[in-house]
Amino acid sequence: MSSKQSIKVENLVKHFGSGDNLVRVIEGADFQVDKGELVALIAPSGAGKTTLLMMIGCVEEPTSGRIWLGDDKVYDNKWLTRETRKIRREKIGFIFQAHYLIPFLNVIENVTLVPQTNGVSKKDSEAKAKELLEYFDIGNKARAMPSELSGGQNQRVAIARALANSPEIILADEPTAALDLARSVDVVKMLKKIAIEQDVAVIMVTHDEAMLPLCDRILKIENKKVVSSDVPKDIHIL
Ligand SMILES: Nc1ncnc2c1ncn2[C@@H]1O[C@H](COP(=O)(O)OP(=O)(O)O)[C@@H](O)[C@H]1O
Ligand SMILES: [Mg+2]
Repeated sequence: MSSKQSIKVENLVKHFGSGDNLVRVIEGADFQVDKGELVALIAPSGAGKTTLLMMIGCVEEPTSGRIWLGDDKVYDNKWLTRETRKIRREKIGFIFQAHYLIPFLNVIENVTLVPQTNGVSKKDSEAKAKELLEYFDIGNKARAMPSELSGGQNQRVAIARALANSPEIILADEPTAALDLARSVDVVKMLKKIAIEQDVAVIMVTHDEAMLPLCDRILKIENKKVVSSDVPKDIHIL
């Protein structure tokens, strides 16, 4: 696979349940996402966007197909490693709609929690966290509690936390759904900046058409498959 390619999915299938309760969510998806790309994933509610992200993130096991992350084939009709947790920890940063910061830990403790759990020293993880918080203009909030921050600031902390392990891939599930337009634009521009500056592949689920012109490309779940299209250039925001 080419060195630009970060995520590749081939003939991916996902069913839930069986017999009368069989739900066919994805029926043979093929697509790829390059390093440095910010791709919007769109589809109606219930179409399988979260399921697709969770399969790429090695959280949800596919029914069949193949998945590559970076140079590693991780799934070929079965997980090719027992250590899906390790892959997840090392390669993937997740961002969710609600920021899910731990309310009784301050900002820097939230950002350093996972790296420290992974064995990174307090000193090193805090240095990296401070750098990330500075990068997102919230360096002065390191000792604040999540409840003292605005929604947009909390989402920046959540993005900093997703980046704390220098992931190759960021999977963001409706990261702007709880934010107003200006804050949403802010977050999406930040994701684009990360993609470019850190050569990360970002897939962002969104229902907000105003965010699409800020992305590089659109992936759409259609008829249980994934189709790629260009972003509209004619939507004006702000
Ligand atoms: N654990 C599960 N068991 C059974 N069905 C599920 C499960 N998770 C998701 N589904 C079904 O898969 C479909 C896609 O869900 P989801 O990926 O959450 O869609 P989206 O994120 O696009 O709204 C829905 O029909 C949902 O009910
Ligand atoms: Mg969803």
